[in-house]
Amino acid sequence: MNVVILAAGQGKRMRSKLPKVLQPLAGKPLLAHVVDSARQLGAAKICVVYGHGGELVREILGAADVVWAKQEPQLGTGHALLQALPHLDASAPTLVLYGDVPLTRLSTLQALLDQAREGVLALLTVNLDQPTGYGRIVRAADGAVVRIVEERDASEAERAIGEVNTGILVAPTGRLAEWLPSLGKNNAQGEYYLTDIVGLAVAAGIEVRTAQAEDPWEVAGVNDRAQLAALERIYQRNEAARLMHAGVHLADPARIDVRGELVCGMDVAIDIDCVFEGRVELGEGVVVGAHCLLADCRVGAGTRIAAFSHLVSAEIGSDCQIGPYARLRPGTQLGAAVHVGNFVEVKNSQIAAGSKANHLAYIGDATIGERVNVGAGTITCNYDGVNKHRTVIGDDAFIGSDCQLVAPVSVGRGATLGAGTTLTEDAPADTLTVSRAKQQSIPGWQRPLKKG
Ligand code: UD1
Ligand code: CA
Repeated sequence: MNVVILAAGQGKRMRSKLPKVLQPLAGKPLLAHVVDSARQLGAAKICVVYGHGGELVREILGAADVVWAKQEPQLGTGHALLQALPHLDASAPTLVLYGDVPLTRLSTLQALLDQAREGVLALLTVNLDQPTGYGRIVRAADGAVVRIVEERDASEAERAIGEVNTGILVAPTGRLAEWLPSLGKNNAQGEYYLTDIVGLAVAAGIEVRTAQAEDPWEVAGVNDRAQLAALERIYQRNEAARLMHAGVHLADPARIDVRGELVCGMDVAIDIDCVFEGRVELGEGVVVGAHCLLADCRVGAGTRIAAFSHLVSAEIGSDCQIGPYARLRPGTQLGAAVHVGNFVEVKNSQIAAGSKANHLAYIGDATIGERVNVGAGTITCNYDGVNKHRTVIGDDAFIGSDCQLVAPVSVGRGATLGAGTTLTEDAPADTLTVSRAKQQSIPGWQRPLKKG
């Protein structure tokens, strides 16, 4: 099967420098949703018809399995499909999709493809209470489709028809080669209408069948930001339903945003207003508190992430306690039962099982062993203004509060650093190291008195 995706429209109503089909829905360009659907249907050929901002569209989508056909100028949907024709396999049928219609269910498209077997023309239609703006499906008394009439070309009686053209159709490709070049533009918009092939098919005695989309949002296009936001909410509602069906507890299914792939074990609980980006895996029983953002993370079973934590490209072991207000940056790897508390930032560091940094710390470019305690206010000084350096801390070390570890530096197993230590040389194992001006008390010292 060929799939042609029409995406040449300008999308002026978005009022954006970004071409419409690159606007993100659930973190992914609209067009990428459609290309993914084509792939999942097993398309042998995917051709995108592009126009405005096209080079950027090609670049950003970067899909090796897509062929591109430029449409310049844009003279209508029939003219758009004509541009794709040279790229198509004439012996296979062609499914026409739209770069700004991102949420069509695969089962709906499959039902349409099932109708299209053996050289018939198959149209996807939908029944709307408010059909204004759409092309209407005109049927004969026996129910057979006769033609599609655009809103602006329709009579009063035709405008009362609630069954509308979604634009999505499957056509025999050989026939398209006959029909498309013969389309006229004698209509209200002066465009070459793809919909006119229906009349041509009927005239040629070719059967026109239809399949229906169950829900209007499946075939809804995006023309402005309000429609984009409406489809985003529908996508997220569907995603929330999928998660709950898989055994995830959502505090409020209307307050979760999944912008990628969220994979959850059983009994995961997610509080309100969490955002998940890229691929996130949550193991069994993971609890995510309110207002967390997780991007490209793996979280082991039983881990609890408390409210307001921000985790990006981190691997977290099982039974950890993260946050509230923790920040895990790329390259963070935490073993089992690690605690990372409030206002602790970790970057490009490994922290092994049972270690804790519970308050106000920066751990960057560090390798930390097991059962290490990192005191409040401790920071790794990993950057000398030019290069980054590593800090290595052995198992069972105890880092007192407010230490500065000036990397490259290492702390031996079982070592203790006294509070306030500025460590510039390696600290030996099983030893107390402290760098601190000796405390003194001055007997008889008096505070200065105010003059006059
Ligand atoms: C089209 C259908 C109408 C249907 C409606 C569903 C035609 C003539 N009419 O109308 O029956 O009810 O969709 O939304 O087909 N495009 C191009 N090149 C062009 C023109 C359009 O690539 O020269 C693309 C646009 O990017 C857009 C899609 O085709 O994604 C639909 O074009 P649009 O002009 O919006 O068609 P409608 O008037 O909505
Ligand atoms: Ca439109």
